Amino acid sequence: MTQTDLVIPRPDDMHLHLRDGDMLRAVTPASARDFGRAIIMPNLVPPVVTRGDVHAYRARILAALPDGADFQPLMTMYLTEQADADEIAAAHAAGEIVAVKLYPAGATTNSDSGVRNLDRVMPVLERMAEIGLPLCVHGEVTDAEIDIFDREAVFIEHVLAPLRRRLPELRVVMEHVTTADGIDYVRGSGGDIAATLTVQHLALNRNALFVGGIRPHNYCLPVLKRERHRLALRAAATSGDRRFFLGTDSAPHPRHAKEAACGCAGCFTAPVALGILAQIFEQEEALDDLPDFASGFGAAFYGLPPATARLRLRRSDRPVDLPARLSAAGVDVEIFDPGFDVHWWPEPAA
Ligand code: DOR
Ligand code: ZN
Repeated sequence: MTQTDLVIPRPDDMHLHLRDGDMLRAVTPASARDFGRAIIMPNLVPPVVTRGDVHAYRARILAALPDGADFQPLMTMYLTEQADADEIAAAHAAGEIVAVKLYPAGATTNSDSGVRNLDRVMPVLERMAEIGLPLCVHGEVTDAEIDIFDREAVFIEHVLAPLRRRLPELRVVMEHVTTADGIDYVRGSGGDIAATLTVQHLALNRNALFVGGIRPHNYCLPVLKRERHRLALRAAATSGDRRFFLGTDSAPHPRHAKEAACGCAGCFTAPVALGILAQIFEQEEALDDLPDFASGFGAAFYGLPPATARLRLRRSDRPVDLPARLSAAGVDVEIFDPGFDVHWWPEPAA
């Protein structure tokens, strides 16, 4: 019998870009509708690097929430080579941040202030290991000579594995893992490591970048990979292994910045993420694993209390009419299209 209704603890998005200004006002309601908490990425221009930046950005997010929203932004700081271990430790102790984000300089959108030489941030990482503050990692090398499809695997071998041998106590989240290499690394590692998985990497392989022409709205970083990698991600997401959990990496850009000669990386998935995810778990005959993946394991890794609110996902026989674009607060953003029928949709809160 086809399942028609699924009630899960209100999900957490463990990797989310909300941006700033008009974009922040336009996209925040979509995440607040379906998610109870989200880990907010700090790659603004300029990035979120000080306690003052964190405080001010959090206030702007709260101001962008609809009245009565049940949504808690969990803040992060952007790691630079100038970072101050004392300030980061103080922010953590005061409950102002849940993680620090490492962007290798040049790896992705707004990563110019990121880290060029890991040696320069070792004192900060050592302090984070001491106090148990997780490091969220954008795991791609940036060398132009490395093939873009290999950047995650090379990062693991040349950067992450040596770092973790040097500092095994550091808690690490490999963000938006996209390859079987990443999955195998997490599975085979001892210690406190986890990985987030996005909806688009579970839904699509790299062919989706070139269906009948170039598809800028499917372009994100790390870039979509081969089918065998997508299948490895699906297997991990539905395996019941607590080290794998949802982080949508929903990353809105204005339409004109995606549909351009040099288009930005990022898929805006927030408004459709949970319906698509339920569809994927149904395809995998693993709907029973959805609550842990979307609502349980992430909170447990970050030491957050389990969600008490619930979200009802409804299944309709007819495919849902997925929204194609968000036009609000003066911005126009294309919403991610998974390329297959979706029958699941979160029920609006009463
Ligand atoms: O596709 C991406 N977009 N990947 C990232 O790592 C950053 C994000 C963004 O901020 O646009
Ligand atoms: Zn991201």
